[in-house]
Amino acid sequence: MILITGGAGFIGSNLAEKLICEGEEIVIFDNFSSGRREFIQDFIRDVELFEGDLLEKSALEKLFSSAKIDFVYHVAANPDVRIGVNDPGLHLEQNVIATYNLLEAMRRHGVRDIAFTSTSTVYGEAKVMPTPEDYGPLLPISTYGASKLAAEALIAAYTHTFDMKAWIFRFANVVGKRSTHGVIFDFIKKLEKNPQELEILGDGRQEKSYLMITDCIEGMLFAVKNARDAVNIFNLGSKDTINVTGIADIVVSEMGLFDVTYKYTGGSRGWKGDVVRMMLSIDSLMQMGWEPRYNSAASIRAATRYLLDASNTF
Ligand SMILES: NC(=O)c1ccc[n+]([C@@H]2O[C@H](COP(=O)([O-])OP(=O)(O)OC[C@H]3O[C@@H](n4cnc5c(N)ncnc54)[C@H](O)[C@@H]3O)[C@@H](O)[C@H]2O)c1
Repeated sequence: MILITGGAGFIGSNLAEKLICEGEEIVIFDNFSSGRREFIQDFIRDVELFEGDLLEKSALEKLFSSAKIDFVYHVAANPDVRIGVNDPGLHLEQNVIATYNLLEAMRRHGVRDIAFTSTSTVYGEAKVMPTPEDYGPLLPISTYGASKLAAEALIAAYTHTFDMKAWIFRFANVVGKRSTHGVIFDFIKKLEKNPQELEILGDGRQEKSYLMITDCIEGMLFAVKNARDAVNIFNLGSKDTINVTGIADIVVSEMGLFDVTYKYTGGSRGWKGDVVRMMLSIDSLMQMGWEPRYNSAASIRAATRYLLDASNTF
């Protein structure tokens, strides 16, 4: 049985849906802090659902004692980069301590395989672009990035010490079906309130790589099937980038608006901890035979259309 922590969230629910289609038995562990029941309602009959918090060791003990788990996708986290400015302890708890609790439960119950959803923010402001997996030193500029790097380190250490196997995925910005946060979501909400003017954080020139959720899930499953080292680290992104003003243009046109004035808040970053340029080298996975279907702009357009569909407003 496959455990997905955070399986009721954006990426976790898409992963669960795909694995069910492949005939896998799934158990979802989620505290519904940002996950939604609507995201899993279509396939709830096909999964086992455990409502619980990774910070509660007793809940994890109950989960691992009752379900016969042999593979873990650890997707649960607090993914909000901006929140670290006001509450740095949150990422430590939700991303590092939570990962430690999970690893301990896995160790106690002899579960050896873990796939982990990490992030491009572990690279900080990388000087090499596209950034390869072996880039260093890794100097994150947000507590979120720091917490994910710490979780990667814990996973690597457990892998060596307790004969486990790990797949670590450093995602670009993932967009698409069921996304509940991020730049597209923010722009739609702002434009719904005021269709004449759009506030854009920073100078609009922040330029990043965006990955369609379907490509993200396929990339992860491909790597898990094909990479067999003790610790397998892969970047997962698209082959290009788009800047924030370019995203605004797509959202505005998909909403059928025109003559929208962009009001930039100024400065090169959107917020403290915002990485201004991000593009990941995805050569490692491509050399193994994986290829993203969407580029950044097409991902943004498809995700915008999905979010604008009235039936998908969560
Ligand atoms: N969305 C992106 O662009 C992106 C980019 C890089 C990395 N990631 C990583 O991918 C993963 C999924 O992100 P997402 O965008 O789907 O976020 P999300 O907020 O939609 O999903 C997180 C899920 O984890 C659950 N959760 C959070 N804390 C928990 C806890 N203590 N115990 C149990 N469940 C808990 C939430 O309820 C939610 O269902 C995260 O690890 C995130 O850091 C996401």
